[in-house]
Amino acid sequence: MVNNTSYSEKVKDHFLNPRNMGKLENADGVGQMGNFLCGDVMQVYIQVEKDKEGVEYIKDIKFQTMGCAAAISTSSMITELAKGKTLEKAMKITNASVAKELDGLPPIKMHCSNLAADTLHMAIKDYYKKQGFDISELEKKDACYRCCEH
Ligand code: FES
Repeated sequence: MVNNTSYSEKVKDHFLNPRNMGKLENADGVGQMGNFLCGDVMQVYIQVEKDKEGVEYIKDIKFQTMGCAAAISTSSMITELAKGKTLEKAMKITNASVAKELDGLPPIKMHCSNLAADTLHMAIKDYYKKQGFDISELEKKDACYRCCEH
């Protein structure tokens, strides 16, 4: 765990050795978000395939982040959490779950994990839009996923 100001070993590891960093050419869905308070920017690219039951899942995922250590660590972690998950399950990954997987973030850095979760969700919604789905219901659920996982 971390105290109020220091980063956990996991955060440091993901910052120094980010997983799935880069761009996916011909991505099926792309999310891009910026944090208007700090100016950090993140992009998430997903490749979606269907499993044997026809359920869509994230076959591959990459990110590009221009930001702080926490933004890069949470970006890296969220790609690990989302890879292989169904789109439905990936939509339920919250900023809190990312921070938890990293053994916590200093309170002043919690907002950085919002960037990762929001950008992943945006990439998934982009995928659905490109498939021609009406995502208004998903937008409502997404607002709920911000505060709880269910
Ligand atoms: S300070 Fe901007 S995302 Fe961390």
